[in-house]
Amino acid sequence: MNQDALKKAAALAALEEIRALAQDAVIGVGTGSTVNHFIDALASSGISIRGAVSSSEASARRLAAHGIPLLGLDAIAPGTLPFYIDGADEIDPGFCMIKGGGAALTREKIVAAAALRFICICDASKKVDVLGRFPLPVEVIPMARAQVAHEIARLTGGSPRWREGIVTDNGNHILDISGLAITDPPALESALNQIAGIVTNGLFARRGANVLLLATPAGIERSER
Ligand code: 5RP
Repeated sequence: MNQDALKKAAALAALEEIRALAQDAVIGVGTGSTVNHFIDALASSGISIRGAVSSSEASARRLAAHGIPLLGLDAIAPGTLPFYIDGADEIDPGFCMIKGGGAALTREKIVAAAALRFICICDASKKVDVLGRFPLPVEVIPMARAQVAHEIARLTGGSPRWREGIVTDNGNHILDISGLAITDPPALESALNQIAGIVTNGLFARRGANVLLLATPAGIERSER
């Protein structure tokens, strides 16, 4: 089974995970190739949701192309988004994640924060013991990019690199930090949040996943925090 087939398997498992609850509900939808499979499967599933809160313009376009209604977070009462479904670039045994490979980390973190449950859908290559082999994305205000890169290097010992040519949905830039071994994800998430000019860092540790649907060649492994 190739990686894309595993991503699709994880997406289909998510559909079954939410089937009983999703009818007439508003759901949070993430970004990336795994989520694209989920959106396509949702559209032909027979489940009629009230609408989706999207974490990116790209997912919003895909949802709209399927005729799935889009809602802003303002349109729903706080505490009523039952779940958020998204992929990850890495996930550790404590369900902390690195996200933002698709540069959508800020809106992903916002929608994830609004949801009661985060359902993470991944192929098995994303499961790691220690986060950091995948370079950690950080969204920065463009004017602060060089200064933020300097501060990140000083704080973490890692090597930040500008993802040139990428502008986020919020008009910002991305730095990818390589060379990290993140043994305390919540602490690093908080420390990076203190650097002026960082909008969001791609560590999802303080709000990690609640459910992991991991697609392996042997089948779906479901685990819950
Ligand atoms: C986008 C993300 C994605 O969830 C992450 O990059 C995984 O993507 P894919 O499903 O394509 O492997 O965080 O910002």
